[in-house]
Parts: sequence; structure tokens; C-alpha cells
Amino acid sequence: MKGKLYAVGVGPGEPSLLTIKALKVLEEARVVAVPKGKAEKGSLALSIIKDYIKDKEVLELVFPMTDNKEVLEEFWEKAAEKVGALLEKGEKVVFATLGDPSLYSTFSYLKSYLEKQGNSFSVEVIPGINSFSAAASLLQLSLVEGDQNLAVVSAPQNISRLKEVLKIFDTVVILKVNKYLEEIMKVLEEMGLEDKGYFVSRCGREDEYFSRDLKGLLEEKLDYLSMIIVRK
Ligand SMILES: C[S@@+](CC[C@H](N)C(=O)[O-])C[C@H]1O[C@@H](n2cnc3c(N)ncnc32)[C@H](O)[C@@H]1O
Repeated sequence: MKGKLYAVGVGPGEPSLLTIKALKVLEEARVVAVPKGKAEKGSLALSIIKDYIKDKEVLELVFPMTDNKEVLEEFWEKAAEKVGALLEKGEKVVFATLGDPSLYSTFSYLKSYLEKQGNSFSVEVIPGINSFSAAASLLQLSLVEGDQNLAVVSAPQNISRLKEVLKIFDTVVILKVNKYLEEIMKVLEEMGLEDKGYFVSRCGREDEYFSRDLKGLLEEKLDYLSMIIVRK
């Protein structure tokens, strides 16, 4: 029997923002795979769903936060081998991912490596509430209206293009900003947009935080779960 891989978006952090469908798939699973950045650290996705999967086998998959392609490939391969072994036995495996699976999720790499390794399996993707929709709700901010346009960018890969993006779009959501605040501030100041940014961290978690004083955060160590929304 062919195995089945479910990608389940577990939302931004608050368990009550899990969808009913996500809960149903988690309830029916025997094995739940979760990504994490370091072997010694906990999985953020697991922290959201832990109360709902107490009787399940949890498979923690390490996807290191590095731009070193060789290192990444080695870990993607290892993760795919572990999940592939279960799928080959005809198991249903749930891969739980932060926010929504279509937005900068490790799920896309897992799926393509499973395919590369010749596994035969079916896939179902369960959408989740993404981080910037949750942040907009927290800020009570309308992201775009009428003829306006929205861009979503990842800071590490786009910092050099940020100015161009900010010129074109009315609202720009910048993810993975934790190590890039200084560079982002520089661009915003050059464009006279320094007062148009909203910083949101750990949205939907107990210690969620937001601020409009981006400059005031320059000396702070920022959490990985941080974003900036620039609303012109
Ligand atoms: C790898 S991306 C995953 C995005 C996720 N798939 C989604 O739908 O939002 C991780 C980045 O998303 C943003 N993020 C995810 N959850 C967040 C949260 N609860 N609060 C603030 N930012 C969050 C941060 O910018 C973080 O660096």
C-alpha cells in the first residue's frame, strides 16, 4: 500500500488557531514529524501541537538554519530517508509545520527529496494561518485595500533588493528579520519610511510583542520568530 504524507500548517503559535481539519489529521496520525533548527533545541511546531499528540510517535527532523547548501542537502537527505522508510511501509505520516506549509516551509524540501529518493507516496496539504495574517490581526492592521499590492520577502535572501521591493509595493512583509534589523532600518531611513514599520515577535504565543519603535530595538537580541511589516 502506498504511504501518504500530510503537510499540516499548525498556525503562528496559539493552539486555538489550529484548524479543525489540522486537528482531525493530527488525531488520526500514528507518526507526527516535526522540523527543528538544532538537534539540542525543541521544535517550535511541536510546542504548538504537543497537547494534541500525546499518544503519537514523534519524529524530530533537523533542518539547520544555514545557507551552506552542502550542509542543508545532507540534512534534507537524512530527513527524507527517515520519512521515506515509513512511507514505504504504507504509513500515513504527518509533517507539522509553522504557519502555512506554502510559505517558506521546510515541507517543500522534504517533499522534493522524498521524490528524488524514488519514494512513491501521495500528498495532502492542510493550510494553516500564516504568521503575517496573525500579526496583522494583532496590530489590527489592514494589509492591503483596493488597488494596493502586498509583497512577502525573506530578509536573508532579499536584503539587497529590499529598496526595489519597497518602491513597488504598498505593503511589504519581511520575514526572518532577527539578524537584519540594522540593514532594514538603513533602507527604511534612506527611503523616508522609518516611521512606517511594525515589528512583531512571537505572535500568538504567551510572550507576543509588537512595537513601532524599530530604532529602539537595534541593541536587542531579536527572536527568530520576528517579522517587520512596512505599511506605506
Ligand atoms: C521559515 S518562516 C515560516 C513561515 C510560516 N510558514 C508562515 O506561514 O508564517 C519563519 C519566519 O516566519 C515568521 N514567523 C513565524 N511565526 C511567527 C510568529 N509567531 N510571530 C512572528 N513571526 C513569525 C518569522 O519571520 C520567522 O523567521
